[in-house]
Formats: sequence, structure tokens, C-alpha cells
Amino acid sequence: MKSAHISSIDAMEILDSRGNPTVRVSVELDNGISSVASVPSGASTGENEAIELRDNDMNRYAGKGVLQAVANVNEKLSPLLAGFDVSQQSLIDQTMIDLDGTANKSNLGANAILGVSMAVARAAANASNLPLYQYLGGAGAKRITIPCMNIINGGEHSDNNVDIQEFMAVPLGAPTFREGLRYVAETFHVLKKILKARGLATSVGDEGGFAPNLSSNEDAMETIVQAIEQAGYKPGEDIAIALDSAANSFAVDMKGSYDLKWSGAGKMQSKDLIALSKSWVEKYPIVLWEDPLAEGDWDGFRAFTQELGNKIEVVGDDIFVTNTQYIRQGIEQGVANSALIKLNQIGTVSESIEAVRMCRDAGWRYFISHRSGETEDTFLADFAVAMDGGHLKSGSASRSERIAKYNRLLEIEQELGDVAQYYW
Ligand code: PGA
Ligand code: ZN
Repeated sequence: MKSAHISSIDAMEILDSRGNPTVRVSVELDNGISSVASVPSGASTGENEAIELRDNDMNRYAGKGVLQAVANVNEKLSPLLAGFDVSQQSLIDQTMIDLDGTANKSNLGANAILGVSMAVARAAANASNLPLYQYLGGAGAKRITIPCMNIINGGEHSDNNVDIQEFMAVPLGAPTFREGLRYVAETFHVLKKILKARGLATSVGDEGGFAPNLSSNEDAMETIVQAIEQAGYKPGEDIAIALDSAANSFAVDMKGSYDLKWSGAGKMQSKDLIALSKSWVEKYPIVLWEDPLAEGDWDGFRAFTQELGNKIEVVGDDIFVTNTQYIRQGIEQGVANSALIKLNQIGTVSESIEAVRMCRDAGWRYFISHRSGETEDTFLADFAVAMDGGHLKSGSASRSERIAKYNRLLEIEQELGDVAQYYW
């Protein structure tokens, strides 16, 4: 294929699924091919995440405008990258990292840099006449990811007596993605009926899951098991449970003291929290647990992994922030056996791929993730298939910014036909 070069890059301010500003970037190539990509945004962010540049102009969007990030793309990154061969993703990403000059991309903004990085990848795929998952994942990319569907929310994502932030339904026993998506979407609808019958709220949160006023963490898990059964599936066999504690939100000091304030279980140390977690893993069909301890509690994380790491996937989100510096330390110290991968936590496509590669080389798993603020961009779906990780979280069976990713995965599976694979 004849090489294609960047002729211009253009950004604009759009709104994310929460109605907050975010960055959209379009890339134009010298052969007339173009692409567009939009950047997501988190709410429960880790301390060491790459920095989203916000205008802090209180006259616009309560300070959340991104006009400075947009200007950085249009005035700095566009002239800098004009003429680059669009297939040189790593070089382009590194050139932006160098111009930014900070460890956390606070100068140009991770939102500006990631927008360009994603749009460049998509433009290169378009120029190669390849679907994005194949351009990023190679000719062998054929494993469709299992949709870990967020169906109940607690912690800071709700107003109830539940400490765990996210409860996900994992259709790991389905034969295909299409069937898996059906399993969990049906479960979501049955869950709604169960909640209604109990007189509980069925309005949905930022990620599309319910946030009913359940009485405890165990009430949430029991209700999910009931929904799985009533939908006609076998808990643990057809559909399992994944959790994200987002334990930062109930940590007292980030060093091993917790206060399970929402459920009323009260103050406890890491070892008590681990013992409690272990009792739940024995009782409920849990296969994955994200951020069971706070980001500063590396000893607690290690003890949790020693206790449960041979049974379940222990995922670090806020503790690693998709950054190979922290993932490497995590691997050396055995504090988890998987890392969450969020592109905007690190800020470029090639660094996200590097984080995945580091996990894979260490025999770790990795869990591809959306943010609580999303857009209609489906980049994540292609990225998940390209990375061959086998599972992703993209919210619930409601809210189109979540469904868009699941629908794109349906499309990819159909395109791959009989060679598509689906397994935990
Ligand atoms: P966030 O939440 O996108 O608001 O950070 C998701 C998570 O904690 O995984
Ligand atoms: Zn998380």
C-alpha cells in the first residue's frame, strides 16, 4: 500500500454522555481519507491518571470547558504532526509526549493527545482499508470480548446501602458474543422486574445500570443471582458476577483502613475486608474483582491476591492507572493478576498497547474498560478485539453510548463469521 501522510488535524469541543465537554478530533490525510475520534472522561479517577485539561473558566460549563485542549490540537499538534506517515503510531504518540514534556500530560492535556492518537489510528486503518480491530490487532484478531455488563451500582455511583461500586453480569458460558449479549440483556430486564416488584427504583446511573436502595452488598449479589435464575440461566455456569469495589471511595487513609459506611459494616482493616471478600467469593459466583482495596494499599492488594488470586481475576484500576511504571511494580510485587486498561488514563493508543503487552508477557490478564463519561465513539470495541483480552466492560443494556460499543462488537462478530472466538 502507498503510504499516507497527515495533512491536517482539527479538534472541536463536543459533549459527553454526562453533558460535559470533551474533545473530538478529526484527521485528514494527503490521499483524501479522514477519520474522527472522541475522548471519554472518568469520574472516580485514580490519583496518578494522566491529566484531562479543563479550562477552569467558570463562565462556561462550570469550568469544565475544553477549549484550551482543542486549541492545543489545532495550534500545536496539527502543525507538529503534518507530513507524518499516519501508520507510524508509536512515533506520532512519542512526538506528542515529547512536546508535552510532563509525566502526566498536563501541559497539552491527555484529552488533546488521546483524541489525536485515536484519530490517527483510525485514519491509518481507513487508509489501509482494514477494520480498526484488524489494523491494531493484526490478521489473527478474531476473539470477541465477553461483555461484563454493569447492572447494579453502589458506592459513590448511587444513593443506597451498598459499598461496592459496580456489580457486573458476565456471560462466560455463552457460545458466542451475540448469545452472551442476549443472556445479560435478558437478565437486566428480569432484574428490572424484580426491583419493581420490591418497590425499588429502576432509574439508571451514568453507566446505565440500576442503583436501587438495596439493604446491603449481599442483597445486591443475591438479587443478581435471582435475576440470572429467573432469566433461565445457571449462575456461575452461564453467567457469573464481576465486581468493582472502587475501594478508594471507602478507604479511610489509603494505607489499609476502611469504613464500609454505606452498608453499615463499619470500620475495618485490610485483613478483615479480605476475610469478608473471601466469604463472598465462597458464596457467590464471582469470577473477577476490580480494586478490592484502595490504590495506596499495596500490602492489602498483595494479601488479597495471595488469598484469592488462584480463584478469581484480581484487577488493578486506580492502583495502576494503565501506566506501565505501576503495572511493572505490580507484577514484581504480585499485588494483582490483571490490570484495567482505560485509554484516557494513560493518554495514547501506543502506551495502552504497551500496558496490555506487559500484562500478557507476565501471564496477567487485562480488562478493557470504558469511562463513566462516554461518547458514541466505538473505538473501544475494536480496541478490545485487537488486544485479544477476551473481556471488556462497557456499561449496561441501556444508554446508547454504552450500547454503541456492544453493537459494534456484534458487527465485528458477524464480519468474522465462523472463525470468531468467544471464551473466558
Ligand atoms: P470512572 O469509573 O470512569 O468514573 O473512573 C469507572 C471505574 O472505576 O472503573
Ligand atoms: Zn474501577
